[in-house]
Amino acid sequence: MGSQLLSTVERREVLPESYIRPESDRPRLAEVTTDSNVPLIDLASPDKQRVIAEIGLACRTYGFFQVINHGIEGELLEKMMAVGLQFFRLPPEEKEKLHSDEPSKKIRLSTSFNVRKETVHNWRDYLRLHCHPLEEFLPEWPSNPESFKEIVSEYCREVRRLGLRLLGMISLSLGLEEDYIEKALGEQEQHMAVNYYPQCPEPELTYGLPKHTDPNALTVLLQDPNVAGLQVLKDGGRWIAVNPRPNAFVINLGDQLQALSNGAYKSVWHRAVVNAAQERMSVASFLCPCNSAVISPAPGLVRDGDAPVYRSYTYDEYYSKFWSRNLDQEHCLELFRCAQLQLQ
Ligand code: OGA
Ligand code: NI
Repeated sequence: MGSQLLSTVERREVLPESYIRPESDRPRLAEVTTDSNVPLIDLASPDKQRVIAEIGLACRTYGFFQVINHGIEGELLEKMMAVGLQFFRLPPEEKEKLHSDEPSKKIRLSTSFNVRKETVHNWRDYLRLHCHPLEEFLPEWPSNPESFKEIVSEYCREVRRLGLRLLGMISLSLGLEEDYIEKALGEQEQHMAVNYYPQCPEPELTYGLPKHTDPNALTVLLQDPNVAGLQVLKDGGRWIAVNPRPNAFVINLGDQLQALSNGAYKSVWHRAVVNAAQERMSVASFLCPCNSAVISPAPGLVRDGDAPVYRSYTYDEYYSKFWSRNLDQEHCLELFRCAQLQLQ
């Protein structure tokens, strides 16, 4: 018995009860603002030191930034979006072949977030794929649409290259060796979520994805160029909309970079809201530490006499904890915070 995919049912006029959030937990869309200072990093800028300083500032203050001139062709981004949408438009029986709500499955189509744990559902379907090493997973990927494997594998290779390049710059911005993070995280896995948010009859009552932080190291998000939906929580509890920019990626730091930076960089709370007028797509690529990697604050970032903020753990331990919870509970990293020293 599985959940029902939103993308296989007729368009609904009323939001089903199981998607309705309690009054205290609704998006309050009228209160969301846009922030014209959202950090925008031009990766082709010749002044590398300045780019690294900008990345550092963005990671400290916002926990995310957008990148442009990142070296990935706009045409590939368009193809990725188009083939993703084609996938969700396949006939129901075709999609049923991949339908599973079991989080440990490496290739699956599911809905909401974690239908087995959650009490209220989210207005989203998603295709989740493991993408590295590609040769290992490619045979299991959807072969319908016909061009899916070719387009998505090229996209994954390019995004991995960009992600690793960004991790190098993030390392430098922390004052660490360029390869520090890459080494600390081991041979990283790469997962992808192709998110499909159908038109929603009552967007004020539900979420596409509720407030969460990403459990991995770094997320490279491609947004639908025509439909807004990503929102990020700023200090002070204000939600800001991160509106799509042509050919840009949104980069957000995951929990592992917050741990590794000893809390200096933020794994930011974010959410996806839905709308009544249009469906929306996004493609999230997650770089994830190797399961056996031991995550702990970089020694250079724990000043003499300071205690590390988080205890060491393996990524395996972290990831199981993450999926055993509901998405919008407290920051998962809080469960790994070192006990405060007792005052004498
Ligand atoms: C995610 C995510 C945001 C979006 O998939 O983790 O935060 O805009 N997606 O779809
Ligand atoms: Ni996310």
